[in-house]
Amino acid sequence: MIREVLRMGDPRLLRVAQPVTAFATPQLAELLRDMRDTMAHLDGAGLAAPQIGVDLRVVIFGGFANPRYPDAPPVPDTVLINPDLTPFGEEEEEGWEGCLSVPGLRGWVPRWKRLYYAGYDESGRRFERRVEGFHARVVQHECDHLDGILYPMRVRDFRRFGFTDVLDLPDVVDE
Ligand code: NI
Repeated sequence: MIREVLRMGDPRLLRVAQPVTAFATPQLAELLRDMRDTMAHLDGAGLAAPQIGVDLRVVIFGGFANPRYPDAPPVPDTVLINPDLTPFGEEEEEGWEGCLSVPGLRGWVPRWKRLYYAGYDESGRRFERRVEGFHARVVQHECDHLDGILYPMRVRDFRRFGFTDVLDLPDVVDE
């Protein structure tokens, strides 16, 4: 079912979400179905459970070719539950981001360039990946939602924050 995506200003987006404690349940399957339906409906690159008002550490992302680097490997279609992120090296990279909870806007956001992430899939199986670039950016954006952080909170230069149709950045996706 397509769910309403909460928009910035809603206090439910500012909560630190709770860990999932039971895997492979009908409730978790229904949540993931709703998240996929909602993300597909809005053409998003990722979605976090708090964005539909569900206070759990669950994100989905990927399943598309990288819009900025079409030759780079596509970001795999991923369910990531109770994630841990560990930067690999000190290097940061800035890039444009959009968010389904901040519709109509884009901002220039610094992120770790490379990182490891680990977590669980919907069946409770643990997995780990080392990623960089756009994949790393999407994971950091989605996992920020689990800690009540929206990308505008990370913008350093507000001269590079504005309306999507004015900025005209065709390759930026909402997350
Ligand atoms: Ni977002």
